[in-house]
Amino acid sequence: MDTNKRPDSMERITTAELASAFIDEQVKAVREQVGDKKVLLALSGGVDSSVVAALLIKAIGKQLVCVHVNHGLMRKGESEEVIEVFRNQLDANLIYVDATDRFLSLLENVEAPETKRKIIGGEFIKVFDEEASKLEGISFLAQGTIYPDILESDGVKAHHNVGGLPEDMAMELVEPVKLLYKDEVRVVGEALGLPHAMVYRQPFPGPGLGVRCLGAITRDRLHALREADAILREEFDNCGLAEKVWQYFIAVPDMKSVGVKDSKRYEGWPAIIRAVNTTDAMTATIEEIPYDVLHKITDRITHEVDGINRVLFDLTPKPIGTIEWE
Ligand code: XMP
Repeated sequence: MDTNKRPDSMERITTAELASAFIDEQVKAVREQVGDKKVLLALSGGVDSSVVAALLIKAIGKQLVCVHVNHGLMRKGESEEVIEVFRNQLDANLIYVDATDRFLSLLENVEAPETKRKIIGGEFIKVFDEEASKLEGISFLAQGTIYPDILESDGVKAHHNVGGLPEDMAMELVEPVKLLYKDEVRVVGEALGLPHAMVYRQPFPGPGLGVRCLGAITRDRLHALREADAILREEFDNCGLAEKVWQYFIAVPDMKSVGVKDSKRYEGWPAIIRAVNTTDAMTATIEEIPYDVLHKITDRITHEVDGINRVLFDLTPKPIGTIEWE
């Protein structure tokens, strides 16, 4: 039997009952596969790895070792949330690595988007590998592979996701959600008790804010981007757009314009709002944001975020603009 093929008879998991039956089944299967051995998981805080972590914690508790690598390009509060949910609430065996300085110094003066992506992906593997080699007795590697990753046989997840792991990590894989579609992973995640916001979060690229802090990343501009993005997310939450818009974020280019603040010349970067709807990310349309919301966001970002003096709205559908700027 091809274990990478979803059986035609497999019912779509749409309810808490179906999710709970799936969870029971997988808990049993994982226990059988793993026995009393240890399992390692790269926990990014994204939907798939979070659901796998919660499932494995239920199945094997402390035999699971989660490693969360903070590459310094996370959104505001994200790594903190991973620690709060997994270490504090679920009592997971979680290793937290703050590798911000390593990533940012490697990225210094690097402008080309593809080079930035390669550096981030390569360094992620290195850091994860280093952590793995400090541990003893790990026999399995868990991964948040989902069914679309298998269907997209060009291995999109492998090159797209920072979490793509080295092939020479000779460990047997544990992939409990590999036959599930994204919507099913979310239903399972909720049934496992993960926070709604974590399970229904918008997609976030593996290289994180690194591809939104356009051109060569600097700490001050990255900080401004992170703060502006947090304001955008907060305001979208407040007005209900967060549930409606597929993906929304800020990009900050490496250019300044002249402005006035407190009656003085104030040179700053522009914050560009991108808010798109799509089903498969191959094409995307622009969400019509009410002007009062745009005004509020503009007012908050220009007043609260150091270094930003303008807010722009990106009206470009995909094609011709990709969703991300880099
Ligand atoms: P584009 O910019 O190609 O993005 O229209 C399509 C979707 O893919 C996400 N994206 C990435 N996701 N690693 C990821 O995991 C990446 O390197 C990456 N680049 C783009 C993007 O956020 C959008 O949802």
